[in-house]
Amino acid sequence: MSQPPLTTMPQWQALRQHFATIGPKHLRELFAADPQRGVRLTVEDVGLYLDYSKQRVDADTLHLLRELAEACQLPQRIEAMFRGDKINSTEGRAVLHVALRAPTTEKILVDGHDVEPDVHEVLERMAAFSERVRSGAWLGHTGRRIRNVISIGIGGSDLGPVMAYEALRDYSRRDMTFRFVSNVDGTDFAEAVRDLDAAETLFIICSKTFTTLETLTNAHAARAWSVAALGDEKSVAKHFVAVSTNAEGVSKFGIDTANMFGFWDWVGGRYSMDSSIGLSTMLAIGADGFREMLAGFHAMDEHFRHAPLEKNLPALMGLLAVWNNNFLDAATVAVLPYEQYLKRFPAYLQQLTMESNGKHVTLDGKVVDYNTGPIYWGEPGTNGQHSFYQLIHQGTRIVPCDFIGFGQTLNPLPAQGGGDQHDLLMANLIAQGEALAFGKTADEVRAEGTPEALVPHRTFEGNRPSTTILAAKLTPHILGTLIALYEHSVFVQGVIWDIDSFDQWGVELGKQLARTTIAELVAADEPKLAHDSSTNALIRRYRQLRDDAISGKA
Ligand code: F6P
Repeated sequence: MSQPPLTTMPQWQALRQHFATIGPKHLRELFAADPQRGVRLTVEDVGLYLDYSKQRVDADTLHLLRELAEACQLPQRIEAMFRGDKINSTEGRAVLHVALRAPTTEKILVDGHDVEPDVHEVLERMAAFSERVRSGAWLGHTGRRIRNVISIGIGGSDLGPVMAYEALRDYSRRDMTFRFVSNVDGTDFAEAVRDLDAAETLFIICSKTFTTLETLTNAHAARAWSVAALGDEKSVAKHFVAVSTNAEGVSKFGIDTANMFGFWDWVGGRYSMDSSIGLSTMLAIGADGFREMLAGFHAMDEHFRHAPLEKNLPALMGLLAVWNNNFLDAATVAVLPYEQYLKRFPAYLQQLTMESNGKHVTLDGKVVDYNTGPIYWGEPGTNGQHSFYQLIHQGTRIVPCDFIGFGQTLNPLPAQGGGDQHDLLMANLIAQGEALAFGKTADEVRAEGTPEALVPHRTFEGNRPSTTILAAKLTPHILGTLIALYEHSVFVQGVIWDIDSFDQWGVELGKQLARTTIAELVAADEPKLAHDSSTNALIRRYRQLRDDAISGKA
């Protein structure tokens, strides 16, 4: 269903006009005009409290954004996704990560086939396998129990599992070691196994396609390491399992498909952590914990599908992201979890958001005349405060921030001077949002007795937008809800920008060129190079550096 060019839509133009009025307004004015703003511009549902009152919007902005969403048929597009329509049109696929966390009672059809029984069958197999490993019933080739799990994958077959393991460490089996290998840089693999005993180590090879260069290369390295240590090719059966949609590739690699956990082409890589790609998560936190996490995702799915736009958390987040990106011209979004366990959450979100919405053409292939996906980045607080927050507070660019915090820590520690360290952490989160929004005027700085020459340096302009997301405590359930919030907000943005948020053609060219380059790097004699002069020179210089290092000349 094709829509008129976004920037010609009357709803877009109304927002442009409205921006002329609200753009120059300071958050100080907006808060002064409405004493209830900090309470009114919040939504609380499915365990999340979302405060967007420090965004540079008013009631008219929100109304106009909703009108734009209606004009872009957001409600219909949401329904189309849940119904299993092939909304990933450039790949001709349905987009059904929501089916991975739906209960057995739901029926979701892809090409007339109900996928829910398949989803639950795989979940049951994963649970049975996890239980065997966790209980010690699954033994390695030499009869020892498995104490180490190494998940090998990259992109969507790695970032979700790593992030979830780190986030849910507190719920994980502390007597088992979990590691993740993704980079084709051999150091990643070497460091992951250097202190491990192969007899107690299980590898999970995660690859949707089972053709990805990095993953297959690392999988071969893992097999060589494991077989060399255990002295028997047959040991692969006890030390390797695979997660993939490609049974043929798995068996060609040498893993019995009885030890393979499948998923489906309607699960995008970056949306796959709830599928068997999450096997390491299940091994770490157990099947019940994994199901709790799925229930958290599902709670947000239901909310997204049924809540009206004005109270719909992902819709609001997505529309505010469009507002900041296209009207405030903010090129990036900082995600700042004040929760150490979420340290890999920004990295996970980078693939989710940027592989999804880093697109330059509309669904029907027209080059857009507006910016699409912003750059997502971030670090846990308070660390970031001592690093890049300077630029967010006083730099020349607007960086909208998402602050994420919890009412309760999983590691209560008394703080020096009273209270808990967690209060200290949360005081910082709350203070940052306040400082960004309200700043400090030159007069306020002067009134503190600051010498005139320093006044401009110590002035904070403020008016810097942020959203704060609070939840009671980081649990598997709430982690699922939080991730689904971002997943759906990415979709909302993609619907407005009229792009395919579920393909990733942009990763292909580099992969293709690398195939040519590797042949040129490993050829015995320097081959005839036909690239540009920079690429040719880099190939020559690398070959020389490498050869000199090997021959001891360097
Ligand atoms: O190169 C990008 C990508 O295709 C991602 O979209 C995907 O998550 C990742 O590679 C890994 O792919 P696979 O799971 O097929 O190995």
